[in-house]
Order: sequence, then C-alpha cells, then structure tokens
Amino acid sequence: MAHVKIIISNYFNCMSDLEKHFKPKNFSDRIALNFTKFLRLLADTFFKKRYGHRAVVLETIAAVPGMVAGMLLHLKSLRKIEDDKGWIKTLLDEAENERMHLMTFIHVAKPTAVERFIIMVAQFIFILTYAIIYLVSQRTAHRIVGYFEEEAVISYSEYLNELEAGTIPDQPAPLIAINYWNLPLHATLKDVVRVIRDDEAGHRDVNHKFADLINLKKSKIAYKKNKIKEKKTEKILN
Ligand SMILES: [Fe+2]
Ligand SMILES: [Fe+2]
Repeated sequence: MAHVKIIISNYFNCMSDLEKHFKPKNFSDRIALNFTKFLRLLADTFFKKRYGHRAVVLETIAAVPGMVAGMLLHLKSLRKIEDDKGWIKTLLDEAENERMHLMTFIHVAKPTAVERFIIMVAQFIFILTYAIIYLVSQRTAHRIVGYFEEEAVISYSEYLNELEAGTIPDQPAPLIAINYWNLPLHATLKDVVRVIRDDEAGHRDVNHKFADLINLKKSKIAYKKNKIKEKKTEKILN
C-alpha cells in the first residue's frame, strides 16, 4: 500500500534553506533553545558518528510531539467547540512523516538491545514531559520542536557529508522509502537522507511558525490588557 506524503499548506510552506536558525526573542525561546542544546549534547555523546543508529533512536522520539500536540489540540477543540484552523491535521501529518523516517531507517540500522531499552524509557519520559510542556506553554513546546528540527537538519547534513565522502558506504534506498517519496528505483541512501532532511526543514518551519502565531496572539492580548489598564487609570485620575 502506498503511503501518503505529508502535505503542508502554502501558508506554512516557508523556504526550506538548510542554514535557517530562529534567533531566540524571549524567555520562552531561550528555554526551548537550551533544552534542545542539552538533548543534542546527550545525543552527540551517546551516538558520536553512528548516524544510522542515531536516526533510528531519535526518529522514535521525533514522532511523539506531533501526535501529543495533535491529540491535545483535538481535545481542546472538542472542549471549547472551536475550529482548530488546520493545526491538528498538520501535526498528525508530521507525526506520520516522522514515523516513516523510522520505518525507513530500520532498514539501514538495527537498534542494539541497549538502544531498544533507551527507546522504551525515552518514549515514556518524553510523552509525559512534552505533554506537560504543551499544557503549560504551547508556544515553548512548538519552539522546542522548531529547534529540534534545526538540529535534525544539521545531523542529516553531517550524515550526507560522510556518505558523499565515502566514510560511510552508500547503499540502495530501502523500497519503503522509494515508494513513500516516489524516488527513482536506482535511488541510494544519499537520496533518502536528502529528502528526509527536506522533511525536517519543513517541520522546523511549521513549528517555528506555530510558536510565532501563539506569540503574536499573546502580544495582542497583552496590548489590549495594557490599553484597558491605561483607560482605567485615566478615569481614576480625571
Ligand atoms: Fe525525522
Ligand atoms: Fe523531524
């Protein structure tokens, strides 16, 4: 059965250049960036240059936020009887796309027993942590994913460099990847890493955009509150 590729609406289909970095603008952004840097350090220390294994383990985690956020927004939409403006579908598509990255990389590297244990523990911890962050600050949660995806783009670029240099031997693309991304039959792992990196850049832009939109909404609310306060103060003074 052919899989359906993630479709991001034109509104969110921003330019996917690989060098893009969102400069933190407020406290929430800085928390998101530092949290990401800390997890990047952990991943670098554990996996070093074992890119195939790194991809398998990290894609099991990458497929969590979209599903958790999608579910929480779904419940919120039901609770508040409010339209979601297409966010739920976008997030669930992201989760599905990330799961396909995993289904692809499992043909490239098989996780060791230790890695399988890490996957189980990490999933348990990450689902809870991400759900709590999302409930406390939706903006920070999307910014975190935006930064995660920036790191994913960097990691896949490094992987691609090693494949192009021949340090890591190239191999035929798994059939599941050829079908999912409509790649030519003679495609190799290099082509797969390129399209996956493009997907990650797309997720990065979508999540940063979501965080920006929430930020804008918060600024507007704060502005309105200030105006009301100013008017009240004026009334008292007059
Ligand atoms: Fe991914
Ligand atoms: Fe991703």
